[in-house]
Amino acid sequence: MKLELRNLTKTYGPLTVLDRVSLSLEEVHSLVFIGPSGGGKTTLLRLIAGLETPDDGEIIINDHPVEFGSEETLREYRKRIGMVFQAYNLFPHLTALENITLPLVKVHGYAPERAREEALILLERFHLADQAVKKPAQLSGGQKQRIAICRAVAIRPEFLLLDEPTSALDPEYTSEVLDLIGELRSEGMRLILVTHEMGFARQAADYLLFVGDGGIISQGRPEILFGKTGDERVSRFLNKVLKYN
Ligand SMILES: Nc1ncnc2c1ncn2[C@@H]1O[C@H](COP(=O)(O)OP(=O)(O)O)[C@@H](O)[C@H]1O
Ligand SMILES: [Mg+2]
Repeated sequence: MKLELRNLTKTYGPLTVLDRVSLSLEEVHSLVFIGPSGGGKTTLLRLIAGLETPDDGEIIINDHPVEFGSEETLREYRKRIGMVFQAYNLFPHLTALENITLPLVKVHGYAPERAREEALILLERFHLADQAVKKPAQLSGGQKQRIAICRAVAIRPEFLLLDEPTSALDPEYTSEVLDLIGELRSEGMRLILVTHEMGFARQAADYLLFVGDGGIISQGRPEILFGKTGDERVSRFLNKVLKYN
């Protein structure tokens, strides 16, 4: 995936979260954002997802600018992206299976029977078939998040955006969710991921962006960014988050 940001700016009232951010990545498969809380990672991800509109600047993906001006084009664009949030956002009154089939039928126009087949294949593949008829309340946090990921990939997105997919989980469920993301990655799914799991970031990222202070403070391949050559703010952050790891 080719990703270009040109002078991307986003403000909330008096607060400038992203200040003329520019970036040009030629071919990235798995892009990971790290950085301090409140630094703008979620904002950047939501802009890329077409869920927020920039005040200024452009986002260009595979040479196509995201058209924030047209609600209809934007809606079509969003349909091609999978998104997974911190907390699972599953519908509580639907089963795991129905949570996956609902967007396929309602948003993507699948026939119900075909949606069901697709969903069952995914559930099977990710060892969730036994959970198909359970409601979210009967599932563990890890299972819920894995169902949410299945729902996002069921639409066969061009790429998958994940915003701290493990941060709402009890620690014992983190690895099953990261394993699933790692599997998707190795199958060639393009990812943009925000995470506080530095070990995973290092292992799963082709390329890392350190987001904070209104922009991209540092960027590079993991071995560079985690190496000693990084920016002072990056080293300070890494020293803190890696202290007890
Ligand atoms: N909808 C919003 N309205 C007002 N301020 C917001 C909104 N969303 C985010 N912010 C502010 O923007 C800054 C960046 O937030 P965010 O992108 O969520 O950072 P991160 O994901 O890196 O923690 C924070 O100061 C946050 O309070
Ligand atoms: Mg965030």
